[in-house]
Amino acid sequence: MYFSIFLQCFWIKLIVSSVIIDHDYNLSIEEEDDSFDHGKKNCTRDIEIIETITNTTYYNKLRIPKDTGMTVRVEIWIQAISSIDEMTNDFEMDIYITETWHDPALRFEHLNPCKGNLSLNHQVLDKLWTPNSCFINSKVAQIHDSPFRSIFLMLHPNGTVMVNYRVRVKGPCELDLAQFPMDTQTCGLIYESFNYNNQEVKMKWTSDDGTAVRPLDKIVLPDFTLIGIHTQSKEEPYPAGMWDELHLTLIFERRYIWYFMQAYLPTYLTIFISWVSFSLGPRAIPARTMLGVNALLAMIFQFGNIMRNLPRVSYIKAIDVWMLVSMTFIFCSLLELAIIGYKVREVGPKPKSPKRKESEAYEASPKGLCLYEKRFMLPANCKAELKKESKWKKQTGTDWPPERIDELSSLMFPACFLIFNIVYWTYYGRSSSQEKLSRNGTVLIM
Ligand SMILES: *[C@@H]1O[C@H](CO)[C@@H](O)[C@H](O)[C@H]1NC(C)=O
Ligand SMILES: *[C@@H]1O[C@H](CO)[C@@H](O)[C@H](O)[C@H]1NC(C)=O
Ligand SMILES: *[C@@H]1O[C@H](CO)[C@@H](O)[C@H](O)[C@H]1NC(C)=O
Ligand SMILES: *[C@@H]1O[C@H](CO)[C@@H](O)[C@H](O)[C@H]1NC(C)=O
Ligand SMILES: *[C@@H]1O[C@H](CO)[C@@H](O)[C@H](O)[C@H]1NC(C)=O
Ligand SMILES: *[C@@H]1O[C@H](CO)[C@@H](O)[C@H](O)[C@H]1NC(C)=O
Repeated sequence: MYFSIFLQCFWIKLIVSSVIIDHDYNLSIEEEDDSFDHGKKNCTRDIEIIETITNTTYYNKLRIPKDTGMTVRVEIWIQAISSIDEMTNDFEMDIYITETWHDPALRFEHLNPCKGNLSLNHQVLDKLWTPNSCFINSKVAQIHDSPFRSIFLMLHPNGTVMVNYRVRVKGPCELDLAQFPMDTQTCGLIYESFNYNNQEVKMKWTSDDGTAVRPLDKIVLPDFTLIGIHTQSKEEPYPAGMWDELHLTLIFERRYIWYFMQAYLPTYLTIFISWVSFSLGPRAIPARTMLGVNALLAMIFQFGNIMRNLPRVSYIKAIDVWMLVSMTFIFCSLLELAIIGYKVREVGPKPKSPKRKESEAYEASPKGLCLYEKRFMLPANCKAELKKESKWKKQTGTDWPPERIDELSSLMFPACFLIFNIVYWTYYGRSSSQEKLSRNGTVLIM
């Protein structure tokens, strides 16, 4: 390919570089006379061939070369994919498009040409019939034109025309974020002749086994890896007839390691930390409250951070499930704390709980405050209430002392979290996507 572009640079001299290398010719001699071929005397120079076959008296570029219809074969090489954007739902790539068709009017075998194939550029292409094909669903498409228009044209002596364009194209993606961030995304382009229906121009991939589109190199984006390419030909009805459409689908797999490091791993740690509270004992209620609330806040912050760079879709994503369930776990550990607090109030302080500045705090405090303060590990001078409560405790609360609830929670929370993890990762884990693709005639790129 690069060789072809290279050739194009030198077309004005009409010197095929290999000839120079092979025969060690003196360049200045060749520039004076193009018809240097050894074997052929009096051969026609390329410039004359071009003038003859494109002479407008005989060649009409508006007329379809064959009355029976033209067949245009298309091949695409992907040079690079520069971005996939979730916000605007599109992707951008640089590609080489090669189109080949046979135009009998451009035969020049009979002119005794000096060279086999003619390598030409877009100035000649402008004089020839072309199928006027384009990407009909692209947002932007442009032929690179720096330092010159990147079009390569090759004429074979039997009239076969091969055109190669280097194009930057921005096409749409069908972003489905339900599996995010373990998702695969498909982006697609549709190539067809804009002017001619399929009785005039038939568009075909050069091969039907999916190799008509291939990457020149392994394609890896920061977020995605290209894992599959699917090509398809379809017939679409339009008011002016049936059109041949060439569909190209690219399948990308998200590289989720970043999300694992930024979302899943911190969530694991936050949840583990929220379990520390179970081992702090029923009396450390302020510390436990702080732990729980902080964990909840940290989670909300992480969630917001990830969500900021995603479009506001109206369905539930895999990461939403993860974050919401994780928040529920922390919320439940706070609820458990509330139950503990309630129980502690019922049971009352342990005999050996430390004495504290009861006098001044307590003297002013009414009955209700006394109860309230006990929850925060204050010793109780309110003997009256205590007695009342312990009596009540005997009726209801004996089976479930706070220590026992903590003990049970420190087993149940990890167990439930483990079950949630197994369910979550079997449902959203990525295993079968590649099998699904290969069944469907998609070429996999590994
Ligand atoms: C090329 O031709 C010039 C004069 O036309 C001559 O001076 C030079 O030596 C030649 N070079 C070779 C490599 O033959
Ligand atoms: C080449 O052309 C010249 C004049 O145009 C002619 O005299 C000569 O015979 C031709 N040579 C061959 C090999 O055709
Ligand atoms: C095309 O061919 C005709 C007849 O052979 C000739 O008179 C005319 O000059 C040619 N036109 C060009 C642009 O070469
Ligand atoms: C012309 O192109 C064909 C097909 O691309 C190739 O097989 C052939 O070798 C080329 N001929 C020359 C003389 O370059
Ligand atoms: C024309 O020649 C090229 C290569 O030289 C070949 O690939 C192609 O099949 C030929 N086309 C026809 C219609 O003979
Ligand atoms: C093959 O896969 C593509 C892309 O995933 C899909 O659009 C198409 O409908 C599938 N075709 C069949 C026959 O399953």
